[in-house]
Amino acid sequence: MKNYDNVTIFNHPLINHKVAILRNEKTSMKEFRELVEEITTLMTFESLREGVPTVECEVKTPLETCTQSMVKDNAIVIVPILRAGLGMVNGVHVLFPSARVGHIGLCRNEETLEPMEYYCKLPDGIEESLVLVIDPMLATGGSACDAIDLLKKRGCKNIKFMAVIGAPEGVSRVAEAHPDVHIYVSTLDRELNENGYILPGLGDAGDRLFGTK
Ligand code: PRP
Ligand code: URA
Repeated sequence: MKNYDNVTIFNHPLINHKVAILRNEKTSMKEFRELVEEITTLMTFESLREGVPTVECEVKTPLETCTQSMVKDNAIVIVPILRAGLGMVNGVHVLFPSARVGHIGLCRNEETLEPMEYYCKLPDGIEESLVLVIDPMLATGGSACDAIDLLKKRGCKNIKFMAVIGAPEGVSRVAEAHPDVHIYVSTLDRELNENGYILPGLGDAGDRLFGTK
């Protein structure tokens, strides 16, 4: 895959270790859910290093008064792409519990692989916030592109996208369609198969999170 300025592939030993367990077909639903949350937390810490609206506050310590930056009210909105994105929400909330949550429901048509929108509910004033779109899997990139298009139509200007596993096809598609959106992926996999599944991947993230198959 080409190098893109707006793409970060973590490839971090501690995250890779967790991804190895996540991929394993024998990993239980409970452990899968916990790992998705843990990986999300590790990625969020770094993904939010830049672009978070902050404000300088005055704080009186026991010794003196100082100024200290804090995250602005309503600065961050998390937008999981339903359904599998829901599995990442707690992983962000662990670090920033007051982040509001918008939901975008997209489901891939299994034949055309095109995403279909079935739900959208976003917090008021989202256009002023940093919007962190989350989905464990970035495969063809269709769902990510649609979600980002929808958010831009709603006036959002500060958007980041975070996925656990990305396929080169999907990462390139989103990076090129949305050069202003930074994409964070813990692991870049090899390719997509003919059904749009990521190889080696981890299977269907929604099914493994929620036990539907
Ligand atoms: C999966 C995944 C992404 C999408 C990625 O969702 O969670 O949303 O596929 O594929 P793409 O990059 O090719 O669009 P799916 O449509 O299976 O729905 P689900 O989360 O309800 O299982
Ligand atoms: N969605 C998934 O859940 N897994 C894939 O490999 C591709 C899309």
